[in-house]
Amino acid sequence: MTVLGIETSCDETAASICHDGRILSNIISSQVVHSSFGGVVPEIASREHELMLNSIVNDAISEANLSLGDLDAIAVTQGPGLAGALLTGVSFAKGLSIGLNISLIPINHLEAHIFANFLADPNLSYPFICLLISGGHTQLWLVKNMGIYDLLGETRDDAAGEAFDKGSRILGLGYPGGPQIEKISKNGNPTKIIFPRSLMGSDNLEFSFSGLKTSLLYFMDNFQESKEYRLADVAASYQQAIVDCLSEKLARAIMKTGIKNCVIAGGVAANFCLREELNNRIRNAQILYPDLEYCTDNAAMVSFLGEIKLKSGYKSNLIFNVSPNLKLN
Ligand code: KG4
Ligand code: ZN
Repeated sequence: MTVLGIETSCDETAASICHDGRILSNIISSQVVHSSFGGVVPEIASREHELMLNSIVNDAISEANLSLGDLDAIAVTQGPGLAGALLTGVSFAKGLSIGLNISLIPINHLEAHIFANFLADPNLSYPFICLLISGGHTQLWLVKNMGIYDLLGETRDDAAGEAFDKGSRILGLGYPGGPQIEKISKNGNPTKIIFPRSLMGSDNLEFSFSGLKTSLLYFMDNFQESKEYRLADVAASYQQAIVDCLSEKLARAIMKTGIKNCVIAGGVAANFCLREELNNRIRNAQILYPDLEYCTDNAAMVSFLGEIKLKSGYKSNLIFNVSPNLKLN
């Protein structure tokens, strides 16, 4: 089967073709316009999607050497995400599916992030633990099977990606913050400043990053770059604090559940400091890492999951609305 995936939940306009479990094209246009604002401006994001969608979808179809008539279905992100941004993709997908008289499959963005791991390893077996770390979510899931997800823990306040983005803004670096902090941290000493790691003493699997961000804010009030204290050291120490919290809680989830099969998903999963820390700290379990292009927002994960749903008997649905706060269960 051949499925077109469309993703417009935030600031990436993306389209992809999946054919029999293989990604034939994966086109992404990242909206650089937001970088000067230090974060995504929802109205601008919607307008940019409107401008780009048609050509991105056409590019995805032509790069796969297909034409519109070859499509069996369209999968589109229903939520969670920015309402206006989601609406552009969903409206476009509804129109196209009616015009072509093919199935339409709404996709949960969080589920798509998790399923991107099956692109890395088609033989990934249930049950597994997923550390889902993106700009809006930081959650630990016990994935028992497709559609059967137990939430083990999540953040009480900011998401890990949000901590990177807000930290980057405080440090005067660009948006998105994760890649910027990761880049400058390569030249920094991660043990130079000891930033707080919240909820590490408690036995639960919850996260909290707002205290860390405030601590960075206070630290930068009196900061002057010198030979002894460089901005790179501050960034590396801040990154290390986030990474320590994430890896500690994943290690605890493995211990608590006894499940030794883990995956990570979402934009923060692209972070190499985290990958290295997980490899060093977690020796008693297998951790699967998706390719970098499938960590941050993309439509390959949407077309891929759409095809899986189609094959498992999902019926076309034209009368759904966007769902900015859509949950996984
Ligand atoms: O999954 P994603 O692309 O979008 C959401 O669903 O939110 O995640 C975006 C988040 C942003 O906060 C961004 O700063 C972060 O992922 N991110 C990273 C890296 N690349 C993206 N964080 C840390 N290190 C990275 N290399
Ligand atoms: Zn995402």
